[in-house]
Amino acid sequence: MIVDKLNRPIRDLRISVMDTCNYRCTYCMPKEKFDDNYQFLKPDERLSFDEIEKIVAVFANYGVNKIRITGGEPLLRKNLDQLITKIKKIKSIEDIALTTNGLLLEKQLPSLINAGLDRVNISIDSLDPQLYHQMSGEKGQLDIVLNAIEAARNSSLKSVKLNCVVQAGVNENQIIPLLKKYQNTNVVVRFIEYMDVGNKNDWHLNDVLSFKEIIQIIESQWKIEPINPNYIGEVASRYKYKEFDGEIGFITSISKPFCQDCSRARISADGKLYTCLFSHQSHDLRKYLRNNPPNLLSQKIAEIWQARDDRYSELRHQIETGKDKIEMYVIGG
Ligand code: GTP
Ligand code: 5AD
Ligand code: SF4
Ligand code: SF4
Repeated sequence: MIVDKLNRPIRDLRISVMDTCNYRCTYCMPKEKFDDNYQFLKPDERLSFDEIEKIVAVFANYGVNKIRITGGEPLLRKNLDQLITKIKKIKSIEDIALTTNGLLLEKQLPSLINAGLDRVNISIDSLDPQLYHQMSGEKGQLDIVLNAIEAARNSSLKSVKLNCVVQAGVNENQIIPLLKKYQNTNVVVRFIEYMDVGNKNDWHLNDVLSFKEIIQIIESQWKIEPINPNYIGEVASRYKYKEFDGEIGFITSISKPFCQDCSRARISADGKLYTCLFSHQSHDLRKYLRNNPPNLLSQKIAEIWQARDDRYSELRHQIETGKDKIEMYVIGG
């Protein structure tokens, strides 16, 4: 086990397998900035599945037992089930999850589950087809994603969570409809405070609907109460309805940061290690994978984690905003 400067172990590795996306969400990849001329990675710049497997094995040695596969949109990566098969074989990996926009999910679901996928988190910002389409940069199709959610919740997956990024004045009127639709089901609906990730979404504090404001909207309809986290350092604060079944989650990076127990490391599709979602620097792991003594990768990862003191959300208001931060589509949240 290794710990960082703030005594936080490393438990959770989020791996981006694809830097592009089939959506252009206004808060992540605004279509005016991510147009046809935008330069994404070339296929051979992305880590191969064998390279990812090697990296996961090193992290597993240091105590990582949760793997989350992200993008951009991870389901754009061909044969993703083959990567899951490889990771599943690594001893001590207990949980493999996927974060996706869901557009390509339904068809791939059986092979992903067969390979060992345990959980899926699907993004859905609106139940209104027009607003959904608009928020996805005119790329998303709500009916297809709703079918994928149904397929996921009727499958053998251990959990299905929905992620709704709430933007003030844009989709706050979707909070109640989303909750209504999934009440009394096993699907967890989570609301995410709009975050200042990257520099391309022109984030402004006025666009954030805070945890408190979201709770007020919900409590105008139903009584809810907090429940214990599933694990130390869980990203979402969990709540349940008092009067019937159903779990709700809140991801409150802006109003109630959760850096204190943050045990998450992130790898981009081209093999760079980021120790915070808001990092402005990265560590290239690829150079330690190739033509180097076998233990160099392991040694470097330990050095990087032990030097880590990130707690961006806690320091947000003291940090100069001009600095280049990594974009969300590069590390998938
Ligand atoms: P589980 O708890 O394992 O289900 O995963 P998760 O909630 O971390 O995963 P998901 O990819 O669904 O992330 C949901 C939202 O939480 C996204 O908007 C992420 O960007 C955000 N998030 C995840 N980890 C962190 C973190 O360490 N810091 C901050 N600020 N936000 C995070
Ligand atoms: N703030 C909050 N959440 C975001 N996501 C993408 N960009 C942002 C942002 N700026 C969400 C996606 C997805 C998850 C991985 O992160 O909608 O659900
Ligand atoms: Fe939207 Fe996720 Fe794609 Fe970003 S990576 S544009 S949030 S679907
Ligand atoms: Fe972890 Fe950085 Fe998020 Fe804080 S802001 S919880 S340190 S990833």
